[in-house]
Order: sequence, then structure tokens, then C-alpha cells
Amino acid sequence: MERENFIKSIFGTGALLSIPFSCNSVDEFNGEIADISRKCKGNMIGFKTLPIEKVRVGLIGIGNRGKTLIQMFDFLLENKKAEIVALCDLDKKNIDFALNHLKGKQSLVPKNYVDGSNDWKNLVEMEDIDLLLIATPWEWHTKMAIYGMEKGKHVASEVPIAYTLEDCIRLVETAERTQRHCIMIENCCYNSEELWIMNMIQEGVFGKLTHAECAYNHDLRALLLHETYYKDQWRIKHHVERNGNFYPTHGIGPVSLYMDIGRGDTFKYLTSMSSVEQSLSAAVAKTASDFPKIKCGDVNTSLIKTENGKTIMLQFDVHTGRPYSRINQLVGTKAVHEGYPSRLYIDDDDLQFWGHKWLDKEDYLTFSKRYEHPMITKLKKVSQSFKQGHGGMDFIMIYRLISCLNQGVPLDINVYDSVMWSAITPLSELSASLDSKPIVFPDFTAGKWKEKRESEIMREI
Ligand SMILES: NC(=O)c1ccc[n+]([C@@H]2O[C@H](COP(=O)([O-])OP(=O)(O)OC[C@H]3O[C@@H](n4cnc5c(N)ncnc54)[C@H](O)[C@@H]3O)[C@@H](O)[C@H]2O)c1
Repeated sequence: MERENFIKSIFGTGALLSIPFSCNSVDEFNGEIADISRKCKGNMIGFKTLPIEKVRVGLIGIGNRGKTLIQMFDFLLENKKAEIVALCDLDKKNIDFALNHLKGKQSLVPKNYVDGSNDWKNLVEMEDIDLLLIATPWEWHTKMAIYGMEKGKHVASEVPIAYTLEDCIRLVETAERTQRHCIMIENCCYNSEELWIMNMIQEGVFGKLTHAECAYNHDLRALLLHETYYKDQWRIKHHVERNGNFYPTHGIGPVSLYMDIGRGDTFKYLTSMSSVEQSLSAAVAKTASDFPKIKCGDVNTSLIKTENGKTIMLQFDVHTGRPYSRINQLVGTKAVHEGYPSRLYIDDDDLQFWGHKWLDKEDYLTFSKRYEHPMITKLKKVSQSFKQGHGGMDFIMIYRLISCLNQGVPLDINVYDSVMWSAITPLSELSASLDSKPIVFPDFTAGKWKEKRESEIMREI
């Protein structure tokens, strides 16, 4: 029974995937995962709709994240590029925060939905919404996104958009059938350092890419244990019940764009292991909380191999006391970057090995100015005027999303990117539970990943 529950937690509980719970070998699992690929059509690559002059937005979830996201709209509201038409949350005070924030920024007073955990459906059913923005706890993302698409809305979900393979495939199937945008809004793809690296890759500074290392290493102990920070302490419950990488997308999103994942390359397989759990339970012991044993190990490490032979190390640790890091290491034949703090090494063509050193401050600044991403150059001033929003990247993400819809062009992140990055969670859980056996990735694109395409995030719009 325990095994069955575990497998359901990874693959999903529905009949859609028909994963045989009697599967005993990794080969059988991998065979089943390959079957998933046959359900996809790949017809959302390059997907675009008619331009939407003013995007009408319905926001569900106005907790920590929803409160930040709504503030990212100020510039767009002022310029009549978007309008917030409806709000939904379980707590009236969160609705009031949003209404208060919007006062004087748009003439329309949004409708609000605050009548329990299913009232969001009434928001989704409103006629005059173009885009549904979802910033609820993880367990709601797929459900809300699918219902949104079924009701004709484009959907943008916070990270991760799904954490079972069944939900990944249901999102793809729904987007393909309803022909609605389905984007996971991965803000780290819009950070100036990551965009600078993207630009350097395009300009050939890195040569050919071979390897990357990335992470979400963020000491969340105090927040996970806080009684009210996360609504009903939803987040720590995942650490009690599951073991793997629950938050892969801040690290893997930018790296996937660096490596043309879905645009000429794709993830082939993953192997994952979790360390022993120590730090979160030690923190629990210092509080009056009565959480049972924590299942998730302190440090989960996954290795991913791509079809074209590149390798990625991806880490997840929100238990250990340590400085924040997404690592952001990228290795190419001509250059290497490491983040936290950002450093750049440029290789010497003549093999003189001068110094084996990172660029000095002056040369580093020359590179950072010369290769600044045009999106950053264009939006730096306004993005930095926001007090919230991770130093500007959250505004740039929302600006790009709305601008793509205004102009009727494909979004920077499509449904296949969204589920591919999120699928790391169930695959890491499965591998970690099977002594790190390699698990193959589904191909959500029906083989279309093989077509070399320029990354949408490089387009000027
Ligand atoms: N991209 C980022 O940098 C970033 C940062 C923080 C959080 N997040 C993501 O944002 C999401 C929300 O996280 P948070 O920290 O804001 O959590 P939170 O607990 O502060 O907020 C969640 C909100 O959703 C509301 N909610 C829950 N169930 C609901 C339902 N059925 N209908 C309507 N409202 C409902 C709650 O009332 C709460 O206000 C998570 O997916 C998280 O991973 C992303």
C-alpha cells in the first residue's frame, strides 16, 4: 500500500497514464514514461494568438507572491496594456490589500471572490478575462490552470506548474486541445545576470556549451516553520511527505534556455539522490511545532544528461543554514561563468593558460556592459523603480508576458518548457527512492525539440 501511494504521488492518481503499480524494475518505469510521450502533439511550439490590446487579468492567490505580482502591473496599468479585472483569495484581508493597491491605478474596481476554496471557479468562469494568473500553493496550480484553459483563458502559473507526471501530461494535452497559452512564470529567467549570459551565448562568447550547475539553495527553515507566513503552513507539509527536488525551476529554467532545451536539445535522463535529513528536524525540535518526522533530505542533488551530451548538476536545499545561491555555473569551450558572486573566465585561444584566473573587475565590467541583454537595457530604469520583485526580474517577466499577449507573438516560455522543468520533481523523487537509478524524461514535444530554434527570450518586442 505504501508503495502504491508513493507511486501515485509521483505519477498521479488518475487512470490517464495507466502506470502499472506492480512495476518492479526501472526499465518498466522508463518504458511507461516513454509511453507518455506518445500522447503529445507538439503543436504549441511557436503558438500565438491575435494581439490583445489590453490584457484582462484574473489573479488567484494573493499571499506573499500574489502581493508582489500585483505590484508588478503598475507600469502596465498606467500604460493601459493590462487591467486587473478579478481577484480571488481565501482571506478577505488579502483581497483588501490588492484593492487598496489598485486604487487610482485603474478605473475599474475588480470583482472579488473570497467565498471558500472553490470560489476561484466562479472567477475562471467570468467572460471578460483573457489571462488567469495563479499564485496559490503548489497543489492548486495544475487544477486551476486546466480549468482556466477549458474555460478559454490563457494561463500563467507560479512555480512549479505541476509535481506529478500525470499533471504534466494533462497540462500539455489541455493546452494542445484548447489552443490556449500555458506558461509557468519562471522569474529567474529574467534576471539580469542570466539574461547577460544568454546574450553572451548567442554572441559566441562561451563557444560550445558542455556543462552547467544550478540550484535552489535557500535557507527557508524559519519561513517553513512560521505559523502564518505560508497559508496553513502548506509548504512544510511537502517536506514531511516527500523526498526529492521540489523546487527545480529557478535553477533549471535559465540553464534550459542557455542549453536550447526544447529548441535543438532536450533532457534525456536524470539520476538523483537526497542526503540524510538533519537541519529541518533540528529546527522543528527548537519550536513548539509538532510536525512528524521530516522525509525530505537536506540536500537533493540531481544529474541530468541531455540528448546532445551536455550535463547539468541541479541542487535543492531549503533546510541548511547557508547563504542563498542558484550557483548559475555555465561551462563552455571558450568561457566559464559562476554566480554567487558572479565571475567570468575567458579562455585563451593560444593555450597560454594565462593565470587560470577569473576576469579582473575592470574586464568583467567591460563584458557586462558590452553584452547586457537589450531587454535589461530597455527596462532597467523602470524595473529598478520597484521596491518588490527580486531586483527587477519579476517586473521584466510580467512586462514580457503582457507585451507578448499585446503583440500576439509566442511567449518566452511555452507549455513544454513549463512541464519539462517541473517534471524534474517527480523524476527526482523516483530516482532518489530507487538508489539513484537513471530515469528517462518523457518527450512532451512529440520530437519537435529536435528543430533548432532561437530562444524567444532573445527577441526584441
Ligand atoms: N517565483 C518566485 O520567486 C516565488 C516566490 C514566492 C512564492 N512563489 C510561488 O508562489 C506560490 C504561492 O506562494 P506564497 O508564498 O505566496 O504562499 P502563500 O501561502 O503566502 O499564499 C498563497 C495564497 O493562496 C491562497 N489560496 C490557497 N488556496 C486557495 C484557493 N483554493 N482559492 C483561492 N486562494 C487560495 C491563500 O489564501 C494564500 O493567500 C507558490 O507556488 C510558490 O512556489 C514563487
